[in-house]
Amino acid sequence: MNTLRNNYLKDKVVILTGASGGIGQVIAKALATRNMRLMLAGRNPDKLQQLAESVKAIGGEAEICIANLYNKEAIDLIIDATLEAFGCLDILINNAGIAQNTAFEDVTVEEYDRIFTLNTKASYFLTQKALPHLLKSDFATVINIASVVAHKGYVQQSVYSSSKSALLGWSKSLAAEYYKKNLRVHVISPGGVYTEMVALARPDLMPDEMIQPEIIADTILFLLEHRHTNAVIDEIGIHRANKEPFL
Ligand SMILES: NC(=O)c1ccc[n+]([C@@H]2O[C@H](COP(=O)([O-])OP(=O)(O)OC[C@H]3O[C@@H](n4cnc5c(N)ncnc54)[C@H](OP(=O)(O)O)[C@@H]3O)[C@@H](O)[C@H]2O)c1
Repeated sequence: MNTLRNNYLKDKVVILTGASGGIGQVIAKALATRNMRLMLAGRNPDKLQQLAESVKAIGGEAEICIANLYNKEAIDLIIDATLEAFGCLDILINNAGIAQNTAFEDVTVEEYDRIFTLNTKASYFLTQKALPHLLKSDFATVINIASVVAHKGYVQQSVYSSSKSALLGWSKSLAAEYYKKNLRVHVISPGGVYTEMVALARPDLMPDEMIQPEIIADTILFLLEHRHTNAVIDEIGIHRANKEPFL
């Protein structure tokens, strides 16, 4: 069974944004176990290079693309680097994102723009640019990492919440527009995952109470390993065991 699964994803080409982050690194290593070909995008060359070595050691292929998604050129850079390295694209994982910890009355226009530009706009236009290449693949898949905050109002996260709600919003439209062309769009909406980001945004949370990033990576493998079935999971919500159920 495992061999079949491994072969199923082998050589599929994936763009992973935010690859250098807490969740991104774990996703990359999980995809490497299925011998996938990864374009690891982020801003930190050292972290990405180190991650690429780990991916190769595990059994995947990896190239890195240093791209700051606040720059418009980053989108062309990532797509061009992927096509140059691998010649095609099967899967896009929009994982790069930033959170916040700012009271509503203190949010500045600059902070609002910074969060929306990365969490909503950059992923939108990266997906738009990737789309013609994805649609050539019989595996065309977009996975957007949203958050539980897309569904619930969290204090001091008003802009983060609205940016992830907007990400969810355009994901639904994208899915509706292209499902007949065999594009699958999935959204994963986790609660607190134990990474550096959450340590900064939610210092009140204890590490051992939180979702481990491996759960997000396993969820992605599950979605991809069921790509051939007629069942499509649009969104998966994942919450901490000590939080009230449902998003
Ligand atoms: N951790 C959680 O509790 C949690 C819960 C729900 C959803 N999420 C979502 O999961 C995703 C990953 O979060 P994480 O916890 O892994 O966060 P993280 O450790 O802070 O990683 C964030 C990633 O985004 C990248 N990034 C930040 N600004 C960028 C920019 N301007 N251009 C390109 N890349 C940029 C970072 O790259 P650099 O190395 O270059 O900074 C890093 O790879 C985010 O979308 C987040 O909203 C997280």
